[in-house]
Amino acid sequence: MSEHYERRSKCRICLDPVLEDFLDLGEIPPANGFVSSPDQDEVYIPLVVSVCRNCSHVQLRNTVDRQFLFSDYPYFSSRSSPIEKHFETYADKITDRYLDNGDFVVEIGSNDGVLLKNFENVDILGIEPAENVAAVAEERGVPTRTDFFSEKIALDVASEERRAEVIMANNVVGHVDDLQDLMRGIDALLTDEGAFVVEVPYFVDLYNGGEFDTIYHEHISYFSMRSFAKLANSHGFTVADAERVQVHGGTIRVYMQRTEAVEERSALVEDLLTLERAMDLDQLDTYHEFADSVGRRREQIRELIQELSSRGDIVGYGAPAKGNILLNYCDLGTDVIDFIADTTPAKQGSYAPGTNIPVRRPEEFEDADPDYALLLAWNYRDAILEKEREFRKDGRFVIPIPHLDVV
Ligand code: TMP
Ligand code: ZN
Repeated sequence: MSEHYERRSKCRICLDPVLEDFLDLGEIPPANGFVSSPDQDEVYIPLVVSVCRNCSHVQLRNTVDRQFLFSDYPYFSSRSSPIEKHFETYADKITDRYLDNGDFVVEIGSNDGVLLKNFENVDILGIEPAENVAAVAEERGVPTRTDFFSEKIALDVASEERRAEVIMANNVVGHVDDLQDLMRGIDALLTDEGAFVVEVPYFVDLYNGGEFDTIYHEHISYFSMRSFAKLANSHGFTVADAERVQVHGGTIRVYMQRTEAVEERSALVEDLLTLERAMDLDQLDTYHEFADSVGRRREQIRELIQELSSRGDIVGYGAPAKGNILLNYCDLGTDVIDFIADTTPAKQGSYAPGTNIPVRRPEEFEDADPDYALLLAWNYRDAILEKEREFRKDGRFVIPIPHLDVV
């Protein structure tokens, strides 16, 4: 065992020791581990994806020490305006569905308060482990506990405050190694009629779009409806409703409630289970074929970038975590990418993990006016293509995912 990660043998949902590795993205430093100098030592950790031969839950083989991953997290949700908008609509929907004045709403992994700040006339509490991010939430008036959520924290909050009518967790359940402890925590903190609302990237979208770059060490689990149903049921909960949301390259939102509180399960839940069966997501071959297609995509991206770099300058556009996976897995470095332009002040002036490509301000993108921009933040494709009309008069965007394209 390395000092930074631990190899799992048991499935994180059904606990059977039957994980099968199917995709190896190589040894890569943590995707959010921007470094302050290109000489800085980096920790390379194998990024291997497994599927459970019993319940088909897709998950990483290794669990990276979370203190190492999350203690100083550069991701501030509110810096991305399409995400702010998404959370406004989300808060309205939760309020309409579940909340009365004076109710209590808890969010796990509340980041800088981007969702909770939208709630009115209810008590709110964020639980966020990254100190730097939690501090920003507090400043904007979102009460935040600096902790990893756990059964213990849930029991503390339930006794110090009260149980919550709604618990939300967005883009965080995939980061949790101990899903059993998470569900015991939900059981301890949720009221009898309450709802646990989860958003995570949907494995079906990852699969359909070949979105291998959204696989990184922080993302331990890649959920399907089948995995959620299994997890919920084994803790006395039912997935009462679900919807697909078009953020982060394809997201699923599930609404879980205690089984005895669910009168009727929405047809959408059954529809998604049926869709997943039709895609053969319960068959091992499906996963091995997926890995082959990811390998082919790597070669196509490499060949295209090599060819374009012989014709002009290439700059990376956006430095999301997934961009670092793409660059490392496809072995694209400073020999072909001059720098990466990103709007996040905390990333500017740093160097991308593994590749050590410098990250710079968007103004430098304008000044450099490169021939090509590799769109690493491809989930914002439409907004960025619209915003960069001036660049596109002569320059071209290379879109790596979900379809390799030059536009
Ligand atoms: P996200 O997909 O995790 O929200 O990360 C998107 C990254 O891309 C983030 O570092 C900000 C950056 N970005 C830009 O640099 N320019 C843009 O126009 C957008 C939308 C994002
Ligand atoms: Zn399993």
